Amino acid sequence: MCGIIGITGNKVNPEKAINMLSRLDYRGYDSAGIALNTGERVEIEKGKGKIQQAINKEKLPNRSEVALSHTRWSTHGEPSQENAHPHTDCEGEIAVVHNGIIHNHDELKEKLEKKGHEFCSDTDTEVIPHLIEERLNGREKNRKEVLKTIKKVKEQIKGEYAVVVSLKGRKELYGFKKDSPLCIGINPDGEENYFSSDIYSFSHLTNQSIALEDGEKALITPKGYQIYNGSLQKINRQPEKFEWNQEKTNKEEEHHMLSEIKEQPEAVKRLLKKQNEEGLGRLTQLIKNHERTVLTASGTSYHASLLGAHLLQDAGRETQAIIASEYQNYIKPGEKTLTIGVSQSGETMDVVKALKHAEQRNSTTSSIVNVPKTTIPRKTQHSVKIHAGQEIAVASTKTFTNQVTTFARISNQLGEQKNIKKLPIKIEKTINKNEETIKDLSKQLKEEKHIYIIGEGPTYPIAREIALKLKEIPYIHAEGMMGGELKHGTLALIENNTPVISLRTNDKMLKTEEEIRSKGAKIIPISTETELEIPEGNKIEKALCTNTIGQLLSYYTAKERNCPIDRPRNLAKAVTVQ
Ligand code: M6R
Repeated sequence: MCGIIGITGNKVNPEKAINMLSRLDYRGYDSAGIALNTGERVEIEKGKGKIQQAINKEKLPNRSEVALSHTRWSTHGEPSQENAHPHTDCEGEIAVVHNGIIHNHDELKEKLEKKGHEFCSDTDTEVIPHLIEERLNGREKNRKEVLKTIKKVKEQIKGEYAVVVSLKGRKELYGFKKDSPLCIGINPDGEENYFSSDIYSFSHLTNQSIALEDGEKALITPKGYQIYNGSLQKINRQPEKFEWNQEKTNKEEEHHMLSEIKEQPEAVKRLLKKQNEEGLGRLTQLIKNHERTVLTASGTSYHASLLGAHLLQDAGRETQAIIASEYQNYIKPGEKTLTIGVSQSGETMDVVKALKHAEQRNSTTSSIVNVPKTTIPRKTQHSVKIHAGQEIAVASTKTFTNQVTTFARISNQLGEQKNIKKLPIKIEKTINKNEETIKDLSKQLKEEKHIYIIGEGPTYPIAREIALKLKEIPYIHAEGMMGGELKHGTLALIENNTPVISLRTNDKMLKTEEEIRSKGAKIIPISTETELEIPEGNKIEKALCTNTIGQLLSYYTAKERNCPIDRPRNLAKAVTVQ
């Protein structure tokens, strides 16, 4: 789960590489590095920590024709300068950046060491430059030989990878992939081209990209690109235009998370305006044509799917939501099953694998995704966009809201009558009405070790989602559950003053509240008539307004606790490993 970038151009400087890399830091942020290839030498600057502290650009040449950069989320080897990418061969002439995992790296390293190669990191990646060096040893380092070498290396490594390679003296970059994402960006001025893990790193420079498929290899030069298939035959593929909303909202806050929470009314309006009726209609038709629908996703997208399943059930369709990493254990897909992958990033490996498994067993696949041109929409037979725009904070907020709104629109197409036109204004009202109260409440909650959140029906997924946010951002252990389930065990954990947030949607919840209050719990209700107040509305509106309160509570509690809100420890925005 790293971000990788390659740039070829006539005037590539460290600032440009750092700037592009900073746009990918949500993919990992424990260490970072850059290699600049001036033709005569490959200069590397890398270190532990966030990009600005890891890379001292003063130490790099201020101009080159080729640059590689990498922001890391460690899987093999702790975050350190040695383990930061780029990695090189023994001579420091072949530099490599990699996203993914090479599973057989131990075995390859042992063989290479026997041949005299010296390693300086604990990473799986380092075998790649040494394998290239080994194969090129004694051969001309021309394009033909480099491509043949990459083909050979691909046969030797096992795992998931997107790799970009730079060789001293060559004004071009080579890329290849399996399972991890890699795309090419084509600059319209004809003087610069890019490799990247995703379009965001170059979407301020161009709106034209090409996604590489597994098994393909590609090279880019300042003026062009070439793609090759597995047998090194040239493939003719034209760039595609992409549309990606990066508008700055007028709600620039101290953290991206708060800006994105406050952008939700705008994000929903954008969805209502832009989400293609035709594409949504096709998905609705697919749901009608299948006996059952399975929604598969991870984390916040799973919680949106739980609520989605509830809404589709309301509309009379047999639907279930399953965590993507468990799809194979719990679902027996087949022709009668429609599997819909739900994902913000479009790259979550657990979802990619679940969809692959579904397709291999003849299930029709579709997806609901935020980031365009990513693996999930490309690999499913049909896909719907949610138009939330770029979400930078690791915490998913506005994308959850737009995923649920998409399900609400589908359920309306299936015959439900849930008006969502007023949703933007209701979310806005919720923020304005509650923000100050939440700031005060977060001062009280900041020392808590455990918080319980109870819901039922449509607020059960919201209880789970609020609990996830409280774990992820202020690092407080939280459990989101069905109110009715409390008495079957968890009640034993309720002590004097244990905070329980009750998503009170009906009188039944009042009874549950009474029961836990009698055990000493401190009840914090959210309803249409309590201090934390949501507007009246239908169940979707109420659920999403309740969730907004949960998002703000997580944010302000994290602020009270001085947590790194946009980049929580150990996490990354796109989880591209299993
Ligand atoms: O990109 P995806 O929606 O597929 O990501 C799934 C989860 O990793 C993600 O929702 C994660 O749980 C969020 N960081 C939660 O805020």
